[in-house]
Amino acid sequence: MPDVDDVQDGKNFHLGVPAQTNSFFLKGSNSLDWGMKNRLARIFNPVTGRSVMLAVDHGYFQGPTTGLERIDVSIVPLIAYADALMITRGALRTCVPAEISKPVVLRSTGGQSILKELSNELVAVDIEDVVRINASAMAVQVYIGGEYEHKSIGNLVKIVDAGNRHGVPTLAVTGVGKDMVRDAKYLGLATRICAEMGAHFVKTYYCDKGFERVTAACPVPVLIAGGKKLAELDALKMAYQATEQGAAGVDMGRNVFQCEAPSAMIQAVRAVVHERERPEKAYDFYLSLKNVAAKTISTRS
Ligand code: R5P
Repeated sequence: MPDVDDVQDGKNFHLGVPAQTNSFFLKGSNSLDWGMKNRLARIFNPVTGRSVMLAVDHGYFQGPTTGLERIDVSIVPLIAYADALMITRGALRTCVPAEISKPVVLRSTGGQSILKELSNELVAVDIEDVVRINASAMAVQVYIGGEYEHKSIGNLVKIVDAGNRHGVPTLAVTGVGKDMVRDAKYLGLATRICAEMGAHFVKTYYCDKGFERVTAACPVPVLIAGGKKLAELDALKMAYQATEQGAAGVDMGRNVFQCEAPSAMIQAVRAVVHERERPEKAYDFYLSLKNVAAKTISTRS
């Protein structure tokens, strides 16, 4: 029975203080429902407005690529440094302890392999399972200009609609075919189509010229993929330039887990993205963390 002892009348109604009508911190997200905003605010840091996501979903079409042979061994220790983890449900359930408190961006399309046409994907997860896993967002590959462009946009539409019913945001990932040029014109086309079709944030590649136009014309936050493994300083420079030019952070995979010192690298990327550290200083930070880790290993052995 509710306790009715000593019910006190309200006294201080702050009559001179107008009700808060603050807008939400993320671009394009202000009219979303509370649950969507709350999930996005777990992925993006509300103080910096940016995110360092760790992408480890490559196995869904590549199998055990370098650095991802054992997600339980090599990736789990990195999760603490990421703002969010992008992963498949299979890898999550089998390799990642449920005690992690980081938001999960669940890979939600698949159905092809490197042996076949990559754009031929289908929706690979039911929204019921997304909710059961407690994912904070779903990730969908979209192949603009690819052989199965139409089908991949259809997957995005289905996933956005399912997510909207349950308050789960959708990340559209622009998959770029081998014969396509990754320039601002193409990336601008691909990211804009994803946002117009309802994606709540978009992942794409960085390009040296005109990237600021890509982010400006995309009405939702844009994250960059790391792409193939680069020298560490070059990867940090790319993250710095992309965020300077309007990216809301990175969703990096190979440039972290294929590094000699992945934990040092993800911390250096964080320094660039969240603290606006210059790439050269972040690289020094990377080297010092790497040396400390190497010394710790040598004293143990
Ligand atoms: C797209 O193909 C997948 O989401 C990849 O696993 C991810 O985008 C690749 O990230 P990165 O290019 O940084 O390795």
